[in-house]
Amino acid sequence: MRAAIAELSASRIREVANAGIGRSDVLAFWFGESDAPTPQAIKDAAVASIQRGETFYAHNLGLPELRAAIADYASSLHRPVTADRIAVTSAGVNALMLAQQVLLDAGDEVVAVVPVWPNLTAQPIIMGATVKRVSLHPDATGQWQLDLAELLAAITPATKMLVVNAPNNPTGWTLTRAEQQAILDHCRQTGTWILADEVYERLFYEGDATAAPSFLDIADPDDRLVVVHSFSKSFLMTGWRLGNLVGPAALIEQLGKLIEFNTSCAPVFVQRAGLAALELAPTSVPELQAHLKLCRDTLVGALRELPRVMVATPPGAMYAFLCVDGEGDSLALAKRLVVENGLGLAPGAAFGDEGEGWLRWCFASQDVARLRLGVARLAQALNT
Ligand SMILES: Cc1ncc(COP(=O)(O)O)c(C=O)c1O
Repeated sequence: MRAAIAELSASRIREVANAGIGRSDVLAFWFGESDAPTPQAIKDAAVASIQRGETFYAHNLGLPELRAAIADYASSLHRPVTADRIAVTSAGVNALMLAQQVLLDAGDEVVAVVPVWPNLTAQPIIMGATVKRVSLHPDATGQWQLDLAELLAAITPATKMLVVNAPNNPTGWTLTRAEQQAILDHCRQTGTWILADEVYERLFYEGDATAAPSFLDIADPDDRLVVVHSFSKSFLMTGWRLGNLVGPAALIEQLGKLIEFNTSCAPVFVQRAGLAALELAPTSVPELQAHLKLCRDTLVGALRELPRVMVATPPGAMYAFLCVDGEGDSLALAKRLVVENGLGLAPGAAFGDEGEGWLRWCFASQDVARLRLGVARLAQALNT
């Protein structure tokens, strides 16, 4: 087996979840998904597709009508995007992997903004690339911030790709338009590709914006830019495995070949569900966003009442990232919370050494009272 694969570390979130296996009393906030099921209209579209007999292979890059609908959707949020710049993928993680397969050679240098969902830094390693980590820094309130000068200094002509996820899992940190412009300008100079993971773009809570700032708002169609989206988070479709990416048309054409060797295509009935999700989006996404904002404010407000806990209000995504004073080992703390208090949180160390000492709490809960109950369990744990 390749050493790069053998050396990949197992998920620390799973390690915590395993400590609570078989226990129905655990309040689990450890995984990055809502506890709400997929909306009925989306499920109905998939069932109708199967009933019609749509059970065959399809085009590598996705159904033309879904590519067109994704292009319209992206264009409604950002600068106009044409369908030839869209590839439909088997979820966001597959889109990220494909982008790296098409762009990275073994030995290439990747710069990654961290802490981050661990798949993003494991994927370049799988490709045989090296990863230079540039850390966000927590300020005195627990809000994580980018040192733009530090990031730009790390990206040189030797850097093949920048991997950046904003709104960010786990910190909720979000790039500003000015930072995106500076990064884009710099990467144009160094010839570096930007792989922007924007799967949380609609889960953004600042002002009345419909989406977080995106590289698609400022880039030209042939910039070295790939933006990854997912149906998982804003359409409550984690189990369906549907995503997409936007890139230069010439790259997407090549990507079609690569998809053939990975999954060949996304299942047609899942793509039909994706079409239904996009039709529903004008009402469903603002509703979800408003509910998650309520969840965020409820959770952060309650956590701030606790002694020893530092937590900032995240501008985007669906996680509170908190620090408990005096608790340096996040894995040990997360396991203790599961075993002794029935509270399931993700250890910050799961997102890299930079997240050590922190805990991630997914606040995408249908029932806000569940969040309050979780905070009561944390309070009990910290009192004992
Ligand atoms: C930052 C980020 N990117 C991508 C994904 C992938 O989502 P999916 O593969 O379900 O589309 C996730 C899932 O948690 C994520 O947090």
